[in-house]
Amino acid sequence: MSLPEVKYTQLFINNEFVNSVSGNSFTTINPTTAEKICNVQEADKADVDLAVKAAREAFKLGSPWRRMDASQRGRLINKLAGLIERDAKYLAALETLDNGMIIGTSFGVMIGSARQLRYFAGWADKIQGKTIPIDGDFFCYTRYEPVGVVGAIVPWNFPVFLLTGKLVNALTCGNTIVIKPAEQTPLTALYIASLVKEAGFPPGVVNVLPGYGPTAGAAIAEHMDVDFVTFTGSTEVGHLIQQASGKSNLKRVALEMGGKSPNIVFADADLDYAVEVSHRGLFNHSGQVCLAASRTFVQEEIYDEFVRKSVARAKRRVIGNPYLKTTEGGPQINQEQVDKIMDLIESGKHQGAKLECGGKRHGDKGYFIESTVFSNVKDDMRIATEEIFGPVQQLIKFKTLEEVSERANKTKYGLAAAVFTKDIDKAISIANTVSAGIVWVNVYGVMGGPVPFGGFKMSGIGREGGEDGLMEYLEVKTVIIKQPGQVNKL
Ligand code: NAI
Ligand code: MG
Repeated sequence: MSLPEVKYTQLFINNEFVNSVSGNSFTTINPTTAEKICNVQEADKADVDLAVKAAREAFKLGSPWRRMDASQRGRLINKLAGLIERDAKYLAALETLDNGMIIGTSFGVMIGSARQLRYFAGWADKIQGKTIPIDGDFFCYTRYEPVGVVGAIVPWNFPVFLLTGKLVNALTCGNTIVIKPAEQTPLTALYIASLVKEAGFPPGVVNVLPGYGPTAGAAIAEHMDVDFVTFTGSTEVGHLIQQASGKSNLKRVALEMGGKSPNIVFADADLDYAVEVSHRGLFNHSGQVCLAASRTFVQEEIYDEFVRKSVARAKRRVIGNPYLKTTEGGPQINQEQVDKIMDLIESGKHQGAKLECGGKRHGDKGYFIESTVFSNVKDDMRIATEEIFGPVQQLIKFKTLEEVSERANKTKYGLAAAVFTKDIDKAISIANTVSAGIVWVNVYGVMGGPVPFGGFKMSGIGREGGEDGLMEYLEVKTVIIKQPGQVNKL
């Protein structure tokens, strides 16, 4: 398959593609080969100022966007969904080029993003306040209003899906938005920007600024005229985003920061099925998934067999060229991530876990790592406590429900959890006691537009998805009107 042509490499401000104020650019790399794809204009503080200004202008009272009927906002969002569907093959090829994601996943992500847009499009004219029967002769109601100018800071692991998730929430509620894609994966974000323009959104409603975190990202987080910043990425940067809010205008903050999700397999589970789903729950997208099943707890009675089957499955996993339909796993995103993952693999070996398979680099170019499985993993090892974000599976033994319920929560994270069992009581017990934003029973990773998603503890603040997710992008305004006396209360 020939590589896709890159069409857009400039910043997108006010519905125009423009060079950065500084004229600087940066290189984006194909992780499959470690070769340069192209240069992209690099946004910094001055560009953020221009984009925020455009977004504020577009949000002004009386602007085309503020005067637009809610149903029309929904129609524009549906139009954008249609354009993503129209160009899904191209977008998928471009995502695979810039990110290394296998082509089947990239394509699925495009279709999933369009579906997510359509779900929220339906919400645009269904965001309703309440009438509230307060004491006294008053009429009290609430209006749900857009927060204003949203800043979105997006990571590299699912560039389009995470971008469109933030984008559509902002648009559905009538906000305007300044988006910074990750410096590792700017290309699909810019193509989506071109589709935003084609769909007919007014200038300034959506702005896309490729650039680095400590410069462009920080400028968004610190900006005095950004009302809300929504971030997905590392916990380390999540701290900085919240601090930046505290130091500037106390903008609202939503954070989604990954996890160390427990995946609990009881002895009564369908073994082969649980092995396969646990494998995919960890190895999908080469482990670069915030909700990865990175601590698989297996009950004692089936532990050895589970390890044997998981190792056999990992050894069968096909990694390589992400454009081939037969490939199951592509490269890691860059050298930095490879170094981090290899360091954690070494720590696992030194701390006494048993390396069952993998553990080395794969191939002679690009950022590939072998599918790696550790058994005999103990709760306090680094591989059981730190987010690896790579193709490294931890198999941990447990005896009882009570014990695993407690051990599952011994982590600073709380993003996702899963339980495999045929016993409904065990499933409900885990679902009730685990600290996690989402719990799956006999399945892993099911998501979608209507599903609230986010973290307990240090995995996050706020939710994305569904009605709960929309609330992050809305301000609640209460209006109380004095009424003449003698109005019937009921
Ligand atoms: P990161 O947190 O540095 O990057 C995420 C986004 O934040 C990027 O757009 C980046 O440019 C931006 N950013 C970085 N520093 C910033 C700052 N000071 N102010 C504002 N924005 C800033 O994540 P990175 O370094 O790419 O990956 C490190 C680790 O983070 C991974 O190994 C993984 O454990 C975790 N991670 C989790 C993700 C998730 O889905 N929750 C996604 C990506 C990374
Ligand atoms: Mg970083």
